[in-house]
Amino acid sequence: MIGGMGVDISTVELALEAARLGGVGHISDAMVPTVIDRHFKTRYVKDKLKLYKANVTNLDDKSLVKFHLGELEEATRTHVRRAMDAKQGPGMVFINCMEKLTMNAPKETLKVRLNAALSAGIDGITLAAGLHLGSFGLMEEHPRFRDAKLGIIVSSLRALQLFLRKNGRTNRLPDYVVVEGPLAGGHLGFGMDWAEYDLATIVAEIQAWLKSENLDIPLIPAGGIFTGSDATAFLENGASAVQLATRFTVTRECGLPDPVKQEYFKADEEDIEVNGISPTGYPMRMIKSSPGIGAGTHPNCESFGYLLDANGKCAYIDAYNREVAAHPGEKKIKVMDKTCLCTHMRDFDIWTCGHYTYKLKDTSVKTADGDYQLLSAEHVFKDYQFSKDGKIALPA
Ligand SMILES: Cc1cc2nc3c(=O)[nH]c(=O)nc-3n(C[C@H](O)[C@H](O)[C@H](O)COP(=O)(O)O)c2cc1C
Repeated sequence: MIGGMGVDISTVELALEAARLGGVGHISDAMVPTVIDRHFKTRYVKDKLKLYKANVTNLDDKSLVKFHLGELEEATRTHVRRAMDAKQGPGMVFINCMEKLTMNAPKETLKVRLNAALSAGIDGITLAAGLHLGSFGLMEEHPRFRDAKLGIIVSSLRALQLFLRKNGRTNRLPDYVVVEGPLAGGHLGFGMDWAEYDLATIVAEIQAWLKSENLDIPLIPAGGIFTGSDATAFLENGASAVQLATRFTVTRECGLPDPVKQEYFKADEEDIEVNGISPTGYPMRMIKSSPGIGAGTHPNCESFGYLLDANGKCAYIDAYNREVAAHPGEKKIKVMDKTCLCTHMRDFDIWTCGHYTYKLKDTSVKTADGDYQLLSAEHVFKDYQFSKDGKIALPA
């Protein structure tokens, strides 16, 4: 399974390759209206900005900046259909749906996104970035609620137990559970003490508990599984599949711009950090030279606003206001402790990555100009399937 990578890093093209090859690919439901504007020349973002233009300079209150739910539904359907209409082969395409995209109306917007994806024919939904205690309830009226594949990402047994308890009322178990360890890319379900945790230990703990409860739910470990041999070790210990992402960030089908893919190839271990700059409150792993770190961008909530909470607040706006107040009259300010994640994920300026990104240079060959050769998703997928003894096949 190729994991979801927002905003449009795990593209439709990448997900389709996974499905064609017999795996599961993910598209992401992060900032879909923006993504659809880019692919279809629609005007969701421009229209939203136009509607709320008068509020751009109001940095104290963003509560009136709401998403139009009909447009959100339309954009999500377009995104999912684009994948499902083109799907070939025996595999499946899922969508990664992050609860932390609270969009100034958490419940309403999540409900629209989940149900629109089901209506547009998605094979499955992976609930991510959040505990999703009410998410099954938001979909239970949908005719596909019991036949689409529904799963959740957890990083601890406790999170899974909470999810099962709170969603038990719907009489439907998840079809799979992705167990994501501390070496993954994107946001982490751990604190800054992430290095004290270990994926195999968490998987074993969850596995033992499921057995003791007589629950048969496929487990899919994720985070730091870098070779086919790493994957096999998990499968031999009872996992049903593995979820992978980092190795696919340097494939042609991945949505990162090509120069950014080279940054991933060239990163060394000391160039990667886990920091607290995401306004979501979750630690996030990224390349230290990401242009979005410290950028001091004017908040763009009228255009985006995906991280505004139920009261129209975002931790980045608070940090931005504090720096503006501390540096009166300065045109360009820096905000080091938080970033405008909507703007910078959209512009591919926060280079989030998995822990082993520094090993990507060993998965390709350097060309005469000093750049690394991009890989095909098929090459990486098959390398996971067929490589042995911890080896990695280089491209032809
Ligand atoms: C660039 C990048 C972006 C990611 N974005 C998301 C995301 O939007 N939602 C999510 O649930 N996981 C996200 N992840 C986590 C992956 O889906 C996956 O579970 C994890 O990275 C697997 O570990 P690996 O990268 O070591 O293979 C992201 C990972 C990367 C590398």
